Amino acid sequence: MSTTLYQQIQEFYDASSSLWEQIWGEHMHHGYYGVDGKQKKDRRRAQIDLIEELLQWSGVYSEDAESLPSASILASPYQSEQIHPPRYENILDVGCGIGGSSLYLAEKFHARATGITLSPVQAARAKERAQELGLSSRTHFQVADAQAMPFTDNSFDLVWSLESGEHMPNKIQFIQECLRVLKPGGTFIMVTWCHRPIENLPLTVDEQKHLQDIYRVYCLPYVISLPEYEAIARQLGLQNIRTADWSKAVAPFWDVVIDSAFTPQAIWGLLCSGWSTIQGALSLGLMRRGYESGLVRFGLLCGNK
Ligand SMILES: C[S@@+](CC[C@H](N)C(=O)[O-])C[C@H]1O[C@@H](n2cnc3c(N)ncnc32)[C@H](O)[C@@H]1O
Repeated sequence: MSTTLYQQIQEFYDASSSLWEQIWGEHMHHGYYGVDGKQKKDRRRAQIDLIEELLQWSGVYSEDAESLPSASILASPYQSEQIHPPRYENILDVGCGIGGSSLYLAEKFHARATGITLSPVQAARAKERAQELGLSSRTHFQVADAQAMPFTDNSFDLVWSLESGEHMPNKIQFIQECLRVLKPGGTFIMVTWCHRPIENLPLTVDEQKHLQDIYRVYCLPYVISLPEYEAIARQLGLQNIRTADWSKAVAPFWDVVIDSAFTPQAIWGLLCSGWSTIQGALSLGLMRRGYESGLVRFGLLCGNK
């Protein structure tokens, strides 16, 4: 099953990443629109805010995001003049896309960052971007499987996974691997697509059908609920576990993506990118409706080894 799934994921990102970067930029994840999702802001700002809010929420970085030089971050996120204590010297970005988070974090923490992805196109583009940004010497990107990582135990201070867990066929093995390569005392941060908790009410047939449609379009084997992730992390011995559901804060992202997907530039790009990308664009409403009904959830989990 995994080989076929991995091929699908690889082909999906090989085909769509260049268009995504052209239209939406280097971050392939949701944006943050305030706790209740009501803040109005530029999409790129919202995506960077998600990273900043996440760093604060997880306790990795405690300075108030509002006090950061927002204009300079937007203009040049990789040349922040702020010096941050090098608490995180060696960072792993699991499911790194084209290096959006890896390069941002490497710059922010003056750290080394390694990114892994299933897509050779993404890994190559991430390397190119690192070069463009003068970060090649302390960043590394490669094609590797998050469920069998080519790294020794206890290698990284921070293991970061932003919207890749939903692709993993074995959620336990995925988290186990993340914790294996994390140094004792290091921080694990995972943000992933979930379905609603099911303790009180199992998923209905309609909900299961809705999820199946999302899985098919976005190459996901299945998703689970946040309490299920928490139970796995606890069972695997992660300490100081915290979880949060930020569905409200990120749901507006899909309206923005839907609006921008139907501009002439995006339509032309979609036509050139092939069927899987077109299908992804035509199905953007699935995620919007998923958030509206409460079925789809945006789950956060962090803790220390
Ligand atoms: C939605 S993208 C997120 C990219 C990036 N984290 C970001 O926020 O810009 C999902 C990423 O997960 C990666 N991925 C999915 N399954 C993976 C696996 N088994 N091993 C490594 N990477 C995987 C994909 O190749 C892709 O880069």
